[in-house]
Amino acid sequence: MARIAIDLDRTIGAIDRRIFGGFVEHLGRCIYGGIFEPGSPLSDEHGFRRDVLDAARQLRMPILRWPGGNFVSGYHWTDGVGPVEKRSKRLELAWRTVEPNTFGTHEFIEYCHALDLEPYICLNMGTGTLDEACAWVEYCNGVADTYWANLRRANGHPEPYNVRYWGLGNEMYGPWQIGHLTADEYVLTAQRWADALRRTDSTIELVGCGQDGWSDWDRIVVDGLARYVNYHSIHIYTGSDDYWSNVLAPHQAERGLEICQALINRARYLQNVNSEIGIAYDEWNVWFRERGEQSGLEERYTLADALAVATYLNIFVRHCRSVRIADLAQLVNVIAPIFTSKTGLFLQTIYHPLSLYAEHTQQVAVDPVVVCETVTHRDPPDAPWAHRVGDLGPFKLLDVAATRDETGRRLTLTVVNRSPDLAVSATVELNRPVEAGNARVHLVHGPSPNASNSFADPNSVGVRTQSLQIEGNRFELVFPQHSISCVELPVAVETTSAMRLVDPHIELVACGSSLRSMPTFPEWDATILDLAYEQVAISRCTATTTPTVVIQPVTWHARETWTPSSTKQWPHVITSRRGSAAASGCTCPLTSSTSRIATSSVRQGRLRGHRCPAWARTSSPHWMLSSSAACSSRCCGMPIG
Ligand code: AHR
Ligand code: AHR
Repeated sequence: MARIAIDLDRTIGAIDRRIFGGFVEHLGRCIYGGIFEPGSPLSDEHGFRRDVLDAARQLRMPILRWPGGNFVSGYHWTDGVGPVEKRSKRLELAWRTVEPNTFGTHEFIEYCHALDLEPYICLNMGTGTLDEACAWVEYCNGVADTYWANLRRANGHPEPYNVRYWGLGNEMYGPWQIGHLTADEYVLTAQRWADALRRTDSTIELVGCGQDGWSDWDRIVVDGLARYVNYHSIHIYTGSDDYWSNVLAPHQAERGLEICQALINRARYLQNVNSEIGIAYDEWNVWFRERGEQSGLEERYTLADALAVATYLNIFVRHCRSVRIADLAQLVNVIAPIFTSKTGLFLQTIYHPLSLYAEHTQQVAVDPVVVCETVTHRDPPDAPWAHRVGDLGPFKLLDVAATRDETGRRLTLTVVNRSPDLAVSATVELNRPVEAGNARVHLVHGPSPNASNSFADPNSVGVRTQSLQIEGNRFELVFPQHSISCVELPVAVETTSAMRLVDPHIELVACGSSLRSMPTFPEWDATILDLAYEQVAISRCTATTTPTVVIQPVTWHARETWTPSSTKQWPHVITSRRGSAAASGCTCPLTSSTSRIATSSVRQGRLRGHRCPAWARTSSPHWMLSSSAACSSRCCGMPIG
C-alpha cells in the first residue's frame, strides 16, 4: 500500500498561472491550416478556425508566445502588417518554405483577444536589427504622435496593443538558428537591445534567451543579463520509444529548473540584483518522432506521452517558485494537443492532462509526502534526445503534485501512475478532514500506454469523471496503471486554520468565559482550550465591572490543566450554541460565516490589532476571535457584521 500524506500548511509557494501558457509558430500547419484558415466554413470573420478556438479555450492559456521559434530569426514584422493584399510573400529560411504573411501582428493580437490571454512576442535577433525591434515595440505599444504608433493607427488600430512580454531572440546558441551567436556575443547584443527597448517602452518585461538551464550558455547569459531581464528562458523537449525513458524523461526539467535557479540566485546575490528573475520555460513538450523539416512536426501522441506531459505539469507545480512562465510547444498540429483536418479536429492524448490541470490546479502548491514503489532507470545509449535522467532516480511510480486554494478549502491532487501494468492503492492522509460530498476524480485513461487518438478513433484516450465517497482525514484511493488522476477534494477548515492559511504570522486570541460573578462554563472553556493545540491564546475575563483580559501564553497546553469536554469533539464545539450562552454577550464567534468574514478580513488587512501588555515582547499584533457587535465594540475584537 502506498501512502500520500499532505499537510496543507506545508506550502511550497504560489502557482503562477502563466505555467499554462502556449506557443504558436509559423511552422507547418500550426498557423496556416491550424488556427487560421480564411475561407473555411469552420472559420469566423477573422479567418480563425472556430473549432480550434473552442478546443484551445479549454486549455485556459494565460499567455501565448509567437511568431517563433526558429521562424522568428528570419522574420521581418513589417511584412505582416497593413492591408493583406499588399503584404509580400517571403522566402522562409528556418523551415525552408514560403511565408505568405497573411497572419501578422494584428491577426496575432486579435487571436489573443479571442482567447482572452496575453501576447508574448519573440524578437528577431537573427536577421533583424535593433531598430526594427524598437519599431515593433513602438508599433504595438506607442501612444505618442510618432511614426510607428501612427502606422498602427493608420492600419485601423487606434488603441495600443500593450504587449508586455518580449523575448530577446530564440535559441540563439544553436547552429540551426539563423544568425546564431556565441554566448559572449549574445550577452553584449542583448544588453544593447534591452537598453534601447526599455527606452522605447519602460513597462515591458524582457525574456533573455537561455538554453536548457544547466549549460555554460545559461551561466554566461544569466550573469550577463541579470541586470537587464525579467526572465531567463529555457527549452527542453524529451521523448523516446522506450516506455520508461519516455515517461521518466520529464525529470530532466527538474534538473534544468534547479540548476538554472541556482545560477539566477548566484548572479542576483553576487551582483546585488534586487529585482526578480523568473524562469520562462517557453518551449516544452514530448517530441521525438517527427523531427525532420518535411514532417511538419505532426507528432501523434500516445497515452505514455500524456503521462510524461502530466509529469511535466507536476514538476512545474513543485517548482512553482522558479518557473513563472511555461509555454507548451505548440498549440495546433505542430507537436500539439489539437490536430485538425480541413473538416474537423481531434484531441490528442496530451490535451487531456493539459486541460484538466489548467482547470483544477489551485493557487498554492503544497509539498506532499509520497511513499511508494520506485523504479531505477538506465538511460539507453541511443536515445533521440541526449538527455540522461538515470542519476536523478530512483523514481517513484506515483508522481504527485498537490495544490490548494488560498483558504485551504479546496485541494487538488494530481497523480501520475507510471506503472505500465500495476494499479497502485494508496492511503491518503490529510491534516484536515475532507468534507463529505463533492470529492471527484478525473481520470485520464486508455487501453494501453501505446493508445492514441485519431480522426477514426478520437476517444481511445479520454477522461472519465467520478464522484468519490470519502470523508475524514484518511481514506484510500486506487490509481489505475498508466493513468493520470486529478482528484478534487473539498476540505473542512475552521476559522483559525483559514486565517492562518491567509497569513501564517498572525497570533490569535480565543474568547474564553469564567466571569467571576457568574457561573463559569467549564465545558466552554475546556473545549476552547483545545485550541491551545492550534496555538491560539485564550482570553479570560476576571471581573464583571472592569473586566481585564488575561492572556495565557500560546504555549499553554490545555490538556495538562483541563479535561476536555466529553460531550463535544473539537472542532465542532466551537460552532455550537453552547458558546452563545456561555460567553455572556458574545455570540459564538466561530461559525463558518464568521470564518469566511475573518478570512477575508485578514486578507484585506482589515482586522484591528490587539496588543496585550503581557505579550509586549512579541512584535506581531494579536487578533480577537469574536463576531458579535456587542463584543467587538467593548473589547478589542475585530469589526465584523
Ligand atoms: O517548436 C519547434 C522548434 O523547436 C522551435 O522552432 C525551436 O525554437 C525549437 O528548436
Ligand atoms: O467587557 C465586557 C464583556 O465581558 C465583554 O464583552 C466580554 O468579552 C465579556 O463577557
